[in-house]
Amino acid sequence: MPNFETVVVDTDLLIVGGGMSACGAAVEAAYWANKHGLRVTVVDKAAMDRSGAVAQGLSAINQYLGYAEGENTPEDYVRYVRQDLMGVSRDDLVYSIARHVDSTVHLFEKWGLPIWRDENGKVVRSGRWQIMISGESYKIIVAEAAKNAMKTLGEKGQIFERVFIVEPLVKDNRIVGAVGFSVRENKFYVFKAKAVLVGMGGAVHVFRPRSTGEGLGRSWYPPFNTGSSAYFTIRAGAEMTCQEVRFIPVRFKDAYGPVGAWFLLFQSEAKNAFGENYMVTRVDELKKWAPYGLTKPIPANLRNHLGLLDEREGKGPIYMHTEEAIARLVEKYPDEKVRKKKLKELESEAWEDFLDMTIAQALLWASQNIFPEEKPSEIAACEPYFIGSHSGASGAWVSGPEDLAPAEYFWGYGHMSTVKGLFCAGDASGACPHKFSSGSFTEGRIAAKEAIRFIVENNEEPQVDMAEVEALKERILKPLDIFEQYKNMTTDPNVNPNYIRPKQYMFRLQKIMDEYAGGVSKSFTTNKQLLERGLELLTMLKEDSEKLAAEDLHELMRCWENVHRTWQAEAHIRSVLFREETRWPGYYIRADFPNMDEENWKCFVNCRWDRNTGQWEVFKRPIITIID
Ligand code: FAD
Ligand code: ADX
Repeated sequence: MPNFETVVVDTDLLIVGGGMSACGAAVEAAYWANKHGLRVTVVDKAAMDRSGAVAQGLSAINQYLGYAEGENTPEDYVRYVRQDLMGVSRDDLVYSIARHVDSTVHLFEKWGLPIWRDENGKVVRSGRWQIMISGESYKIIVAEAAKNAMKTLGEKGQIFERVFIVEPLVKDNRIVGAVGFSVRENKFYVFKAKAVLVGMGGAVHVFRPRSTGEGLGRSWYPPFNTGSSAYFTIRAGAEMTCQEVRFIPVRFKDAYGPVGAWFLLFQSEAKNAFGENYMVTRVDELKKWAPYGLTKPIPANLRNHLGLLDEREGKGPIYMHTEEAIARLVEKYPDEKVRKKKLKELESEAWEDFLDMTIAQALLWASQNIFPEEKPSEIAACEPYFIGSHSGASGAWVSGPEDLAPAEYFWGYGHMSTVKGLFCAGDASGACPHKFSSGSFTEGRIAAKEAIRFIVENNEEPQVDMAEVEALKERILKPLDIFEQYKNMTTDPNVNPNYIRPKQYMFRLQKIMDEYAGGVSKSFTTNKQLLERGLELLTMLKEDSEKLAAEDLHELMRCWENVHRTWQAEAHIRSVLFREETRWPGYYIRADFPNMDEENWKCFVNCRWDRNTGQWEVFKRPIITIID
């Protein structure tokens, strides 16, 4: 085995991840840690300036209430989120974020993020909750603020970039740290901490993507987040929630450009190949999903569902009629000169929307000779992702805030999981979707403040068992050994009876998930027998994960990314299997239980992996409404 130095870092609060929630956590933690003389450490697998889902930038902030402007209240937001998730969300958590989110957006603007404003200085809204930004450099701006805050801690504030976190360290159901490795140098890291805040995002490439061959890797959800939050919290023994609530966005086909600005800002329509708008022609189907199908706004998954019904009947392609939307917008201006100017403005807004956040879509438009003012563009449902901060809900089951949470949802510290000292934010915390970039940052702030309070009130030295750490080091670095040992036994290093390379392993995982757990190729449909067979195959895949081989540090990261994905996959299959109904038909259909069952299944499905026995349990938790 190559010689790996073991680096031990002692800290008080460890923040794992460097994305929106982690940056929010760093800003807030630095403030409170300074007051108490505590240390804070941030660890990101990438470079914070461009890491996570916001790496490419964004064109909108999707959660801004405009409370002070009298636009919306947190209560309104709670109702909206509950409706979008077909009744399954935690009012206390959604409220807790919604009441603070505007202050976060004001900070972003102060730090230099250009927010679109009209001639009266009012923010430009694309929807009731969404505001437009020129957000190509969004992540750089937010990361700079986090780094500046960390600097105020002097030696007590440390940031590690390009260190991949693999495994939690836990002692008697209390988190005591984490281990990982540098993806650039032969260093194995041991972080000892009194509390850990998880912000390592959601998961992509668990399911087989639509993109193949030269396009492989292109997906809506960025390739950087690979289920590390789910793995870390599951392996720590935390109770998880909504693991069945995947997210399937509808996007511009093949380059995955966002649709929000088109549907909301430009009021564009999507129609099938025969010019029918499925939101009109399929309106009767919505009754089946009452009360959610009959209340506005129609939940994202039901909008998907109606489009998918068209597709299954062979009525595709589905087109976003950008050309009609633009024509409608300019025809309001009778003066030809003004109309021409308006057209130019709309064209540039259309391109900016993609250039700000999904550059590949602008390239695809260019390469397919698409001028949005002349031609429609195809849209399609993507492969499933795990992103609890968007319109999915998967994540850890965390405590609510003291002033809002009912007893069943409260265990001492807001946004703390069921493992003591283990806090979660953004995609890592479940059952409170529609946080988006601003809400994830906000949740990071709230969770970090609570984590510092936890440390002050539970200020014991972390009990890290160094023998366990040594064993972990050996296990984590083993793929490098395996490759070294066997690489010369075949002429092609990709084909070897003694090991499996991470890419091949990933293909196998994706095939299982796609074909058995309701991926794209099965039109998102599954049943008990398929899920059970999928679980069986997943168990064999897990056995083979012991044979993963890595040629270098980068591939070692790929190995562990795939192990992380596998655990997310397993939690998903187990939860889909447990919920005997179809509640989000545009995300997945249980063919054996094709209807929604409000009486038996209006509840959370939670699960937990037992660290001592290695067994899973899946069970129900009640939905407690606190906002009518
Ligand atoms: P992220 O911001 O993704 O951060 C995850 C972090 O974890 C990254 O720093 C990553 O490097 C790190 N990490 C991952 N694994 C490890 C590991 N093993 N070890 C160490 N570090 C690790 N929101 C909006 O408001 N407006 C929009 O227009 C919008 N558009 C979006 C478009 C796309 C394509 C996507 C995917 C999301 C969009 N969102 C938007 C939502 C928003 O980006 C997310 O809600 C938000 O980024 C979630 O924050 P997070 O901290 O949970 O994850
Ligand atoms: S993004 O995160 O990639 O920007 P997207 O473009 O789908 O997501 O949506 C941005 C916001 O608009 C989200 O809040 C989403 O829920 C909302 N949205 C998108 N399409 C619609 C629609 N047709 N009706 C209502 N809300 C929508």
